[in-house]
Amino acid sequence: MPKFISIKKKINNFKKNKISVPGDKSLSIRFVLLSSLSSGKSTAYNLLKSDDVLSAIRNVKKLGIKVFLSKLKCEVYGKGLFNYKYRKNLVLDAGNSGTTARLLCSALIDAQYPIKIVGDRSLMKRDMSRIIKPLKLFGVKFKDNNGKLPIFIKGTKFTKPINYTENLGSAQCKSAVMIAALKTLGTTKIKSLPSRNHTELMFKNVLNVPIKLRYKKKYDLIEVKGKNEIQAFNYKIPGDISSAAFFIVLTLLSKNSKLLLKNVNINPSRIGIIKILKRMGAKIKFLNKKNYKGEMIGDIFVKSTKNLKAINLDSSQNSSVIDEFLLVFLVASKCKGVSSFEKLSELNKKESKRLDWGIKILKMMNVKVLKTKNNGIKIWGNNNSLPKKNYIIKNFLKDHRIFMLSAIAALSFGGNWKIYDPDSINTSFPGFIKTLNSLGAKIK
Ligand code: S3P
Repeated sequence: MPKFISIKKKINNFKKNKISVPGDKSLSIRFVLLSSLSSGKSTAYNLLKSDDVLSAIRNVKKLGIKVFLSKLKCEVYGKGLFNYKYRKNLVLDAGNSGTTARLLCSALIDAQYPIKIVGDRSLMKRDMSRIIKPLKLFGVKFKDNNGKLPIFIKGTKFTKPINYTENLGSAQCKSAVMIAALKTLGTTKIKSLPSRNHTELMFKNVLNVPIKLRYKKKYDLIEVKGKNEIQAFNYKIPGDISSAAFFIVLTLLSKNSKLLLKNVNINPSRIGIIKILKRMGAKIKFLNKKNYKGEMIGDIFVKSTKNLKAINLDSSQNSSVIDEFLLVFLVASKCKGVSSFEKLSELNKKESKRLDWGIKILKMMNVKVLKTKNNGIKIWGNNNSLPKKNYIIKNFLKDHRIFMLSAIAALSFGGNWKIYDPDSINTSFPGFIKTLNSLGAKIK
């Protein structure tokens, strides 16, 4: 791929009105890890073939699991919950993927040798203490670099169930504790701020793990009973709402456009972006809704919408829009009125400091934006096009979502944009530029 892409023209009147987005990243990584712990051959269809998922596959292969990946399907030959092949001096590289690094650690709680976990430049900056703390309670030993990678993890045969309160609203932390609980005899009790619930749904509806789920006002209460074995399974992975979100926002902000996004995961814990955009007045509908192994799946229909309204959002829904927040900021900058968002510190703990990036890009676009106390922001929207000027986006940690956000800003606001590191899209959405071009963008 080239070093950067150039976008000089807004997109209106899409050339086609129907697209599909690739498979859900969270479900794809969970499929790889959980099938690698199962007994027998598991098959996934429509697995996301992106670098993050390939990192998960590379690592389970290093742990002795056979994986066959073809155009149509992915087959994983699991050998059982406690049958990873541990070797001395094993190094596992999670690449850019926080989900792989954090969930993988929990699958290693029975490792008889210290295993080193590393990642790329971005992942090495991310906080691992959030999973080290609960995993230590199970009896696992860690050597870490002040809560960052590289970490060494050494497991034990004698893990103990724990009681744990998850206060970040992080599905990765919750899932890490759940996978460790699955490998620990006895009942682990988790009190967790709400976050995406794919692991709970897979445990309950796919793997028959004894699990109790109760949803209270502030916290979800989860109890997981450890097992000796889980059986192989098949899974059809639906499209990723986090990838769909770029196209939903592009459609909303472009003139005379409409778009149908087929077969997307619209699990209630993932659709914060849709709920928020609808409150802002966006014309969005779900069609053909169906339940698949507990996940809600459907088509999303969206139309360009004028006169969007500003919004004041409290933090209770932050986790359900955690990967799409910057797109919401972009829409807020086109709305009439002042929007406000609160408690966004988790955004600065992603692949790059996304809150800071969001503010930086809006400021470049002459949008008035203010950081408020408690890591909140206020955005003054104004419904105008951008002044014709040059925008250069170079994000040295190569954050895929910052690249894709910038492309959507360029195509919906205009101006002359040079956006570096297009190959960052390989992390989550390798066909992103191709899909934009199929709608009429002319990106080389
Ligand atoms: C993910 C959870 C989220 C999200 C990430 C994928 C998952 O992270 O940002 O892209 O698959 O569990 P946190 O749960 O840490 O917020």
